[in-house]
Amino acid sequence: MIITSIDALRRRLLLSRMRGRTIGLVPTMGALHEGHLSLIAKARAECKVVVVSIFVNPIQFNQPEDFAHYPRTLESDARQCSEAGVDAIFAPSAEEMYPAPLATFVDVPSLGEHLCGPHRPGHFRGVATVVMKLFQIVQPDFAYFGEKDAQQLAVIRRMVRDLNVPVEIVPVQTVREPDGLALSSRNRRLTAEERKIAPMLYRALGIAAEEGAEKAVEFLRSEPRIRLEYLEVVDPVDMQPVSGEERPSVIAIAAWIGNVRLIDNLLVPA
Ligand code: PAJ
Repeated sequence: MIITSIDALRRRLLLSRMRGRTIGLVPTMGALHEGHLSLIAKARAECKVVVVSIFVNPIQFNQPEDFAHYPRTLESDARQCSEAGVDAIFAPSAEEMYPAPLATFVDVPSLGEHLCGPHRPGHFRGVATVVMKLFQIVQPDFAYFGEKDAQQLAVIRRMVRDLNVPVEIVPVQTVREPDGLALSSRNRRLTAEERKIAPMLYRALGIAAEEGAEKAVEFLRSEPRIRLEYLEVVDPVDMQPVSGEERPSVIAIAAWIGNVRLIDNLLVPA
């Protein structure tokens, strides 16, 4: 069932909540792939009611072309959701979510000082703000986020902790292609040649874990079609840089291949 209005969704969820049914939320921007579906499967296994939100959130895009070109595939998304046993899809319009320009934002600036933060000004503020709005609208017991976006996950966890939001954040492992490439809606914009070299990002993370970041950067330099934006090692909670030896840590990478920007990361456990 696709619900586009906030009021209608709230009415739909009121009865479930009164009956004490656990509600799980999977926030997405649509263009669903197996990565999203693994979040949905986990929510389906753990919650009575599963809500998937599909909203291409304008305030988290720092480049208008990126927003304009973001794939919008609601029909096939809805089909995949229904096959996965989703109870409700919340797919509001931009006007429904932002009837007037916001005067209030949620910002977690210290967690955005590194990795994607400096390269995407305003991005995490836009993410934290829309996720807080979704939490207020759906009031889920559990919300599912991919480890693929490690910095986003850290920002949301910190927001929930700092502002006492009554929701449990559930992390879900990154789903990869057989050759290691992390699934992403942006992968479909790679040419066949670019797709062939894209798994080098994941290989570079493995090299960084075993032989250090310098060796990984050297490996990526061997492929001129890959333009490295950053390769950094950070603490998984506060996203501040750590030396290569500290555990646990996250090795995170962002790189451009052609005009597609890809990110990936590897958690090095304690
Ligand atoms: P989107 O990019 O659609 O991703 C939705 C969720 O799917 C995120 O939690 C993301 O980490 C997860 N995901 C994406 N690729 C994955 C993969 N290969 N394996 C596992 N999980 C994966 O992230 C967003 O949307 C937005 O910023 C959002 C949180 C919805 C706020 O607008």
